[in-house]
Amino acid sequence: MATVTTPVPNASTAPVSGPLLPVYKRAPVELVDGKGIRLIDAEGREYVDFTSGIAVNALGYADEGLRAAMHRAADGLVHVSNLFRTAPGERLAQRLVDLSFADRVFFCNSGVEANEGAFKFARRWARAVGTPAKHEIVGLRGAFHGRLFASLAATDRPSYRAPFRPLAGGVSIAERDLESLARILSAETVATLVVEPIQGEGGVRVLDAGYLRELRALTAERRIALMFDEIQCGLGRTGHLFAYQRVEVVPDLLTLAKPIAGGLPMGAILMTEEIAATIKPGDHGTTFGGGPFVATVAEHVLERVADPALLAAVRREGARFGEALEGIRARTGRIREVRGTGFLWGIDVHEPAADVIARARDEGLLLVGAGDYTLRLLPPLVATREDLDDGLQRLERALG
Ligand SMILES: Cc1ncc(COP(=O)(O)O)c(C=O)c1O
Repeated sequence: MATVTTPVPNASTAPVSGPLLPVYKRAPVELVDGKGIRLIDAEGREYVDFTSGIAVNALGYADEGLRAAMHRAADGLVHVSNLFRTAPGERLAQRLVDLSFADRVFFCNSGVEANEGAFKFARRWARAVGTPAKHEIVGLRGAFHGRLFASLAATDRPSYRAPFRPLAGGVSIAERDLESLARILSAETVATLVVEPIQGEGGVRVLDAGYLRELRALTAERRIALMFDEIQCGLGRTGHLFAYQRVEVVPDLLTLAKPIAGGLPMGAILMTEEIAATIKPGDHGTTFGGGPFVATVAEHVLERVADPALLAAVRREGARFGEALEGIRARTGRIREVRGTGFLWGIDVHEPAADVIARARDEGLLLVGAGDYTLRLLPPLVATREDLDDGLQRLERALG
């Protein structure tokens, strides 16, 4: 075996991760159980969870319906090849089609995989309607689309990108202003513009409906596929099943992942028939994507997050949550700005977000950052007013 001489830069974090590769700065908390929107650590401490596993655990913890769906799934086939038909994946795709703009669905296993696949589909379509030069993928300033080569190339975070260059070619990041986009989005060279209707990791930036409408008009006029990455903001988090429905701007491609299978790995690409018609057998594939086990569970999650009563509660309680955050801002003077909608909020603080996150943990509240000075609040979608108020009180104590 060759001798490794390269120094290990993160050796000091090894005890926190044990033998796991230390790509995460893990908190010194071992989570062992949960119920509703609360998590329990190995010492028996309880936390209000405003992270939802970073927008995954829409139904919270120990949800009875989810548990039953997983048991049902386990009673059936777990996996067979995508070379054969299975009913759960077909039913799930049909439900997504019924509930959205889309005509066709491709399933995969994560958010980044959904984006990478959607980029391929956009290119396939663009070359069918244009020349081979029509292949560029354009992302926006502040975006996060994942950590593989093309998604990373569309992700605006220098520290994530720099160590791994060269990234995928033909992918660039544009300023968000309409004037420069109008210059950059060439009908001849651009295949797709990828947009998070609410930029999550980039600081919870809610893109304006009028702005998104302008992007829709511009891309339609130039036959550029408009792709919405709803991996974080979709599936109920805005109080609408899809974030595009909140702003009434319909994309050509849409990616989903995070909450779709209740914590099991799954991603999905939704698309119009026009794009789907250019994809042929062999153009793309996945061993696991849309298998019967995950699809059975996802059918349950989709029905739950599409429930009009749940969506109305997210809109109503989300608005109240935003007002409460403004109240905390006024009372503590420790918040610079509050942004968000539904159950997805970002607050800019005057001190490093990591310091507030650590103090919040001491108060029994789990938070995640979105940049060095921004806290992100993503309660499970089943959170009640009392749950939210409990978390908000802990937040105020942590800030104050
Ligand atoms: C908007 C967005 N796109 C893509 C991804 C990548 O998803 P995954 O971590 O499942 O690959 C994320 C994850 O945080 C995300 O928030």
